[in-house]
Amino acid sequence: MKKSTSPLLELTNMTAGYGQTPVLLDINLQVDKGDMVCILGRNGVGKTTLLRSIIGLNKVNKGSIIFDADDITKTPTYKRSRYGIAFIPQGREIIPYLSVLDNLKLGLTANRNRKSAKLLEEVFGFFPMLKQHLKRQGGLLSGGQQQQLAIARGLMSEPQMILLDEPTEGIQPSIVQEIEATLRRINTEKGITVMVVEQKIDFARQLAQKFFMMEKEVLLLRAI
Ligand SMILES: Nc1ncnc2c1ncn2[C@@H]1O[C@H](COP(=O)(O)OP(=O)(O)OP(=O)(O)O)[C@@H](O)[C@H]1O
Ligand SMILES: [Mg+2]
Repeated sequence: MKKSTSPLLELTNMTAGYGQTPVLLDINLQVDKGDMVCILGRNGVGKTTLLRSIIGLNKVNKGSIIFDADDITKTPTYKRSRYGIAFIPQGREIIPYLSVLDNLKLGLTANRNRKSAKLLEEVFGFFPMLKQHLKRQGGLLSGGQQQQLAIARGLMSEPQMILLDEPTEGIQPSIVQEIEATLRRINTEKGITVMVVEQKIDFARQLAQKFFMMEKEVLLLRAI
């Protein structure tokens, strides 16, 4: 595909937030292709803002975001999705009145190839449960199933990298384990780079190989 051996994602002195109010100051972060990275940090420290900045939902006031050797600092969100970044937001945000199948098809809008039949089968390989519920309204699934649907929808765009914001929040332990195992498979079998924001330290330690701690006092990311 592309270009060099540089990091897949590189933030350099990135300052971002809401309007003119910065939440993140001078963030530096590098993620290599194939990494499974976890971002840790207390409530309100800026974890969601970090992911939203990477996908383009928060304005970057200073510094840069390089993805796959392209400068995407000012690129609109829909194009970042097409470049290969999928974002699974906190609280999942599936469309409750659409069927599972239609929710999945929404993921195709960010897919440049759009060969949906083959892709659906691949996604069912990771989430077999979804195949049993294709016609069901998304909002009628359990919280854990909705989270799986949200991840599956992200996969429909055939991303190079998935950003997940607290995927285990409010989800029963058995499904947390399933999600953990599936994310690991997505990482190893598909080579997709994963960045997950997580507060459950056990889940994070099971899943990731690299960790960054966000600290409000100094507003930075620290590798641990
Ligand atoms: N829409 C917004 N407008 C202004 N400030 C915001 C907005 N959303 C969040 N903030 C502020 O930005 C800071 C970081 O919030 P953020 O949601 O990124 O934290 P977080 O680490 O994801 O927290 P949590 O663990 O609760 O999900 C907080 O001080 C918050 O009050
Ligand atoms: Mg958050």
